[in-house]
Amino acid sequence: MSNDEQAIEPVGWGVLGVARIAMNKVIPAMQRGRWTRVVAIASRSADRAREAADRMGVPRSYGSYEELLEDPEVEVVYNPLPNHLHVPWSIKALEAGKHVLCEKPIARNVVEVRELQRARDRSSLLVGEAFMVRTHPQWLEVQRIIASGRIGDLRLVNGHFSYFLDDPADYRSRPEQGGGALLDIGCYPIHLSRFLFGQEPTRVLGMVERDPENRTDSLTAAMLEFPGGHCAFTSGTRMARYQRMEIIGTRARIVLEIPFSAPPDWPARLVIDDGSDLTGRGAEVIEIPTVDQYTVQGDRFSRSVRTGAPLPVPLEDALLNMAVIDAVFRSAETGRWEPPRAAD
Ligand SMILES: NC(=O)c1ccc[n+]([C@@H]2O[C@H](COP(=O)([O-])OP(=O)(O)OC[C@H]3O[C@@H](n4cnc5c(N)ncnc54)[C@H](OP(=O)(O)O)[C@@H]3O)[C@@H](O)[C@H]2O)c1
Repeated sequence: MSNDEQAIEPVGWGVLGVARIAMNKVIPAMQRGRWTRVVAIASRSADRAREAADRMGVPRSYGSYEELLEDPEVEVVYNPLPNHLHVPWSIKALEAGKHVLCEKPIARNVVEVRELQRARDRSSLLVGEAFMVRTHPQWLEVQRIIASGRIGDLRLVNGHFSYFLDDPADYRSRPEQGGGALLDIGCYPIHLSRFLFGQEPTRVLGMVERDPENRTDSLTAAMLEFPGGHCAFTSGTRMARYQRMEIIGTRARIVLEIPFSAPPDWPARLVIDDGSDLTGRGAEVIEIPTVDQYTVQGDRFSRSVRTGAPLPVPLEDALLNMAVIDAVFRSAETGRWEPPRAAD
């Protein structure tokens, strides 16, 4: 760490809602951060907020989100609300003079992202999308290996992400709240394939199966055509829990064993194999030192607030990701290839 970085004053964060991701993962991780202090948490219920603050050791609790936005020590708002509330509450936070780190997906569609972008542009504040994978060292290592030429030319990014959900009360089971597989988990392979190709897909083909009862997309697959190659992925909310990504070049492939939910107490593993021995005996396994990706995410955002360093996932990137998500849904309706449309 440089002397300049040591001198950085920690940034005060406030959390909207007592979301599971915040309580179980993000708050404890940010509390271990070098540049991040969680100073307040708000809930629609004052009791729930107080209990959460006591449990997590957060100094202040509020019985409404509005009160938290008035707290002068809150410089950044972390927004882990259900997806339909991402844009409305991120805009309120900007209007209260706060930077915003909003959970993925940052909105339900491109129209909403543009609305948030207009609010961000009226301010001089930062808005980032919480794709924590983007700064996990395993993905930075994959990017480095591709750049080194070791796997040859990158041709294919293959991904799968699934879990089994049958809770009708979960916002993921409600289409109007931004539920369904593509917005919840299909967004990851889209984000990561765009990151690795360093390009935007020119057209996409989507296949969607909807749950007969709640009408969310419970099984969604897509193909993305990039100038440099293809991405194919599947995602499902009524399937066994599983996640995997494979990155295939002209000379070798890389497998990420836990590509999205890399645990904070277990080293991430990359398997690199040139295929010369089909039993896998020729593969090299690279262990990535254990990190908590949510600590890294919080600190990177805090550092951007203090130093003006670029955000890992700024709103411009979030807009392009959302344009691909929209195009996958559109393609599933039309049955045709669809180009992503981010522009007005
Ligand atoms: N990056 C990751 O690794 C990751 C992992 C999981 C989830 N996420 C994202 O994080 C967000 C939250 O997911 P989650 O599973 O943690 O959510 P959750 O447990 O269902 O919590 C959402 C919170 O939002 C508040 N809320 C406000 N209005 C609500 C409404 N109308 N209905 C339900 N809750 C409402 C509630 O807090 P109060 O009642 O206390 O106000 C609730 O606790 C989603 O956007 C999801 O995509 C990200």
